[in-house]
Amino acid sequence: MKNLQYYLKKAQKEKWAIGQFNFSDLSQLEGIIEAAKKLKSPIILGTSEGESRFLGLKQAVALKEAYQSEIGLPVFLNLDHGKSFEYLRKAIGIGYDMVHFDGSRLPLKDNIAETKEVVRCAKKAGVLTEGEVGVIGTDASKLYEGKFILKPEDLTNPKESEQYIKETGVDGLAVSIGNFHGVSIKGNPKLDTERLKQIRKLIKESFLVLHGGSGIKKQDIKKAIKLGIVKININTELRLAYTKTLKKALQINPKETTPYKYLPSAIRAVQKVVEEKILLFGSKNKI
Ligand code: 13P
Repeated sequence: MKNLQYYLKKAQKEKWAIGQFNFSDLSQLEGIIEAAKKLKSPIILGTSEGESRFLGLKQAVALKEAYQSEIGLPVFLNLDHGKSFEYLRKAIGIGYDMVHFDGSRLPLKDNIAETKEVVRCAKKAGVLTEGEVGVIGTDASKLYEGKFILKPEDLTNPKESEQYIKETGVDGLAVSIGNFHGVSIKGNPKLDTERLKQIRKLIKESFLVLHGGSGIKKQDIKKAIKLGIVKININTELRLAYTKTLKKALQINPKETTPYKYLPSAIRAVQKVVEEKILLFGSKNKI
């Protein structure tokens, strides 16, 4: 099987993006895998620190490997938003394909120094790295009193990101261009595509990542891919689809106590969202 770098480079060359789909239990994972299998798409599975603590780092790797060998699909695993070197080191040692160090709230100098440590450790193990410059934030409408515009200083500074990439040697960069984690009932995030253009101009080789993929308008996603985004992270939309459908299934049949009888509709709901994203990102038939 080709490695993750191969697919990211291919995506960069051909202008499509690989989805990272987060999960924290087997039934969500089932839905993600079914979609990738059906549409013959490479995918990245994501676990945040919280998700991987719930699931177990070892267990996440074992699940990924089980699906990889059973269905022969390019399925990769990323540790998403790791905040400490120690935790990322564990994930690297255990068999994650990629780790994302989130030092975005640190001063640039410290972010660079800590990222370098992660990169050094990951490179030895042949693991890819993702870093972050600029603060992405979570449902910015909560953060800024109903105004879901990020503060200008939260957004990725193109010059700083160039310096960050040069000094750390990180493989990929998560950008803050108006995207935020979660979905806001107040509206979709508006992407600063001009900023993305400037970043791409200065960063030619490294792959660019769009976090907070839930709730971004289709045309904005397409534009971001055209401008060089090759990895898009999706979590909230999967959680919403899973939880809403599961609640409904339990409500319709409150006496049902057999998980394999009440879980399938929630699994299919996750599958549906992932299929839509794969088609939008253009990663169908790219294995
Ligand atoms: P959403 O929850 O907005 O989809 O963002 C997911 C993400 O970026 C994970 O890193």
